[in-house]
Amino acid sequence: MLWSKKREQKTAKERNRYDVDEYLDEKVSLFNVKRVLGYLIKAQGHLKLSLVFSILASIASLVGPLFIKRALDEAVPNKDVKLLLLMATYLAASIIISVALGAIRNILVARAGAGIIHDIRYDLFSHLQKLSFSFFDGRPHGKIFVRVVPYVNSVSDALSNGIINFVIEVLNIFFIIFFMYQVDPHLATVTVIGLPLLAIFIWTIKPAQRRAWQAVSNKGSNLNAYVQESIDGIKVTQAFDRQNKNLGIMNDLTDERNREWMKAIYISNTVWFSTETISQLVWSFVYIMGVFWMNPMASFGMLLVMGNYAWRFWQPIINLANIYNTFITAMAYLDRIFDTIAEPVTIKDIPNAVEFPFVRGHVEFRNVSFSYDGTKKVLNNVSFNGHPGESIAIVGPTGAGKTTIVNLLSRFYNIEEGQVLIDNQDVMKVTMQSLRSQMGIMLQDNFLFTGTIADNIRYGKLNATDEEIRAAAKLTGAHNFIEKLPSGYDTAITERGGGISAGERQLLAFTRTLISNPRILILDEATSSIDTSTEQLVQEGIQTLMKGRTSFIIAHRLSTIRNCTRIMFLSDGEIVESGSHEELMALKGRYYELCLAQYKD
Ligand SMILES: Nc1ncnc2c1ncn2[C@@H]1O[C@H](COP(=O)(O)OP(=O)(O)OP(=O)(O)O)[C@@H](O)[C@H]1O
Ligand SMILES: [Mg+2]
Repeated sequence: MLWSKKREQKTAKERNRYDVDEYLDEKVSLFNVKRVLGYLIKAQGHLKLSLVFSILASIASLVGPLFIKRALDEAVPNKDVKLLLLMATYLAASIIISVALGAIRNILVARAGAGIIHDIRYDLFSHLQKLSFSFFDGRPHGKIFVRVVPYVNSVSDALSNGIINFVIEVLNIFFIIFFMYQVDPHLATVTVIGLPLLAIFIWTIKPAQRRAWQAVSNKGSNLNAYVQESIDGIKVTQAFDRQNKNLGIMNDLTDERNREWMKAIYISNTVWFSTETISQLVWSFVYIMGVFWMNPMASFGMLLVMGNYAWRFWQPIINLANIYNTFITAMAYLDRIFDTIAEPVTIKDIPNAVEFPFVRGHVEFRNVSFSYDGTKKVLNNVSFNGHPGESIAIVGPTGAGKTTIVNLLSRFYNIEEGQVLIDNQDVMKVTMQSLRSQMGIMLQDNFLFTGTIADNIRYGKLNATDEEIRAAAKLTGAHNFIEKLPSGYDTAITERGGGISAGERQLLAFTRTLISNPRILILDEATSSIDTSTEQLVQEGIQTLMKGRTSFIIAHRLSTIRNCTRIMFLSDGEIVESGSHEELMALKGRYYELCLAQYKD
């Protein structure tokens, strides 16, 4: 079941919480196994080669005991020193060859593992880039993060080393059985007898083990979500002096995870303990049986060799049990990873979507109604026309739906009722790339990235020259503060724009939007944190900017929007007034009241 489906099973309130577990799938899905195979096939070059090296290493190590047997049974009784030395040399050679081949194999497996990690992470990350705002709105970001980094790391070993070792150990078992039957069929049979016992045991414990590891990954994910959120919100935490309370929550989450982890360890340990015990018992049994047979059936050398093989026979079985443990854990993580990769992309181009070669800038909303959650209508039958070059201000109380209009215009959400048209073309029918590349959107909660100031401005236009960046910054008024910084445009800022003031952040975000030279400009509260005198400067910039393009300006501060060609007053998702500043003032309606309230002083 997909992540989105699972989410629906929970109430909306529970969705977005770090203390609510994700849904657990009971069975290993065939679909996921197929995906795993896909990645293995991609890495098959290294995997196959390492398999060849593994097989050779195995054989080289398995012939060793045969030399010991000949030394003990032939060279020693006959006092044949030459044969003894020859056998010793062969034994040494077989050990060295086997170890050397094993070393090469390890490197090949590591390469394969690195390749697999890269492929899975790439697919996951590139899929995340395509997912809609609603996907990210709906869950703690920490739960997404764990899938991309720690989970992918955890599965790589299982998928490279695990797979190879699995094949090798299975082959090893057959090789050893073959060698044992060559030496003595009776003792070989005694050794193999414990096998079905173990198989039944592992089969019984399997579901419990899988569930246990899934629970660990769930609790780990909750913990991650909480830690990430706490670090993001550390300033608020300190401001409210909530450190102790948060520590308590973190403690509980860690305890919960540890409890599940201990359970999983107990179960895995039981598997390990049982295989180990059965193997030791069988090994002893081989010796006892051997002693019974010793006279006259078994030679001393044969007994020693059989003991060695019996021990080696159980080694792969124990290894298989360990590999199985790793697989079980990895499958729990893979479930989560593949879940995300399978999450449907809801905002995407329709088949045969058309390219928008050049937007002139005619924007029309035709009877658009919209709801984020399918129940509460946020926009109600909104219709308006914006002509090329026009500047339209959207004003209205908090929560009226202003940002929602912008979200639909940029197609961040699918429009289900009514139509949004640009140059008479339904935005649902054009490619998103061609649409968004001609739109400059400054979001209300703008985000800056780790890097220099110039890097952040360049985000709007990858190949912008330094001159272009300066020119854009001068237009928006950002240049004044950038110039005063010790390293100017090369000043490093951190994620979310740490290091500069809130108003400066807005100026940067504004510059970033401007440099993309969009046909349609959308500014959502672009100047809300900027002081009035700077705003006057920015105003001039905005005036220059708006020339020749269609602009939508959302602002609470009326000085910002006075000069717009049209002002729309939005209230509860409906346009209640529309016209120029003068017209609306004459109307003496909602806008008039708003102006009076703001200019009272
Ligand atoms: N992602 C979302 N999921 C669900 N509801 C949302 C979401 N975003 C906004 N809303 C709701 O939709 C309504 C309109 O929100 P919108 O962001 O468009 O308001 P706004 O007019 O831009 O307000 P503000 O002036 O505060 O920015 C609000 O009632 C809000 O609670
Ligand atoms: Mg808003």
